[in-house]
Amino acid sequence: MNILAIESSCDETAASVVTDGTVTVSNAVASSHEMHEKYGGIVPEVAARMQLEAVLPVIREALSPLRKSPNEAPADTIRRDIDAIAVTQGPGLIGSLLIGVETAKTIAFAAGKPIIPVNHVLAHMYANFIGGNPVSFPAISLVVSGGHTELYLMESHETLTWLGGTLDDAAGECFDKTARLLGFGNGGGPAIQQAATGYAPKSGTAPTLPKPMLGADNRLNFSFSGLKTAVMREAAKLRDRDMLDDAAIRRLAYDVQESVTDVLVRKTVMAARDHGATTILLSGGVSANLRLREKFKANEPEYAIHVPPVNLCTDNAVYIAAYAFFRGKPEDWKTVTAVPDLSVEV
Ligand code: KG4
Ligand code: ZN
Repeated sequence: MNILAIESSCDETAASVVTDGTVTVSNAVASSHEMHEKYGGIVPEVAARMQLEAVLPVIREALSPLRKSPNEAPADTIRRDIDAIAVTQGPGLIGSLLIGVETAKTIAFAAGKPIIPVNHVLAHMYANFIGGNPVSFPAISLVVSGGHTELYLMESHETLTWLGGTLDDAAGECFDKTARLLGFGNGGGPAIQQAATGYAPKSGTAPTLPKPMLGADNRLNFSFSGLKTAVMREAAKLRDRDMLDDAAIRRLAYDVQESVTDVLVRKTVMAARDHGATTILLSGGVSANLRLREKFKANEPEYAIHVPPVNLCTDNAVYIAAYAFFRGKPEDWKTVTAVPDLSVEV
């Protein structure tokens, strides 16, 4: 079964064709990231306009491996080779979501294909099913991205239960905000990772930052806004003393990465113990973080750790198609709508 998926929840416009939820036929992604660099963050209006420009070329690119000739119309490729259209319905930016949803509905109607609305956050975890690696259930799934830090118990493709999430900022948001505070602009998590890599604190020095929510209460919830504030205070203190040099910045980047990754690993393992799961699935942009991967891998072989290749961690349409294959339910195109605040607490 070939699913054409469209993803446009934030500042990426992506389209992909995936066979049987596991084999990637194509993965096209256009990003308006550079455009937002100018403004110091994502401007929803700009993101939506860029989505509008990118959506058709990206879909055309995703269909190109299936074309019989370079001149074949995309509509003909879809009619012949695509069985269903999947689209991100939410959560996300309303302007961006609308572009993807309305485009998908138009294609589904015109080509007479079923349309499957997809929850972007739940879909992230399906990046782990690409390639057909066997996953044994029950599994604990950590979705950790720019907007979400969520833990789920996955007993089967049909039975998914939300266990906890962030009470304020997401882990990715914490990286993005601290990156700005430390002078890395919009470099976000990758910039923090780069600054922290190879840094070794002098032995015996205590970490400068807290590891939030590791106490007994709120076991499976997260909170990262206090950590960001701690970085802000620490940086201000050093700046006042004229001590915020490159080494101090790298130290803070290292400490924030250590705190975030420690909390994520410990709570995920706690959830696995609570539920007798020996499989852990990581996904979302932050799961690209090398230190996080390293810390999770240190828990093998007690747990089977699944983590997608880096290019499938950040936003794309491959996992949207995979989710649609394993868990999606087709709907009448007339009732499919964009839902910016779609709940992730299933
Ligand atoms: O999943 P994603 O592409 O978009 C959302 O759905 O939010 O995640 C983006 C987030 C950003 O916060 C970005 O800073 C973070 O993922 N990220 C990383 C790394 N690569 C991306 N965080 C830490 N280390 C990385 N290597
Ligand atoms: Zn995402």
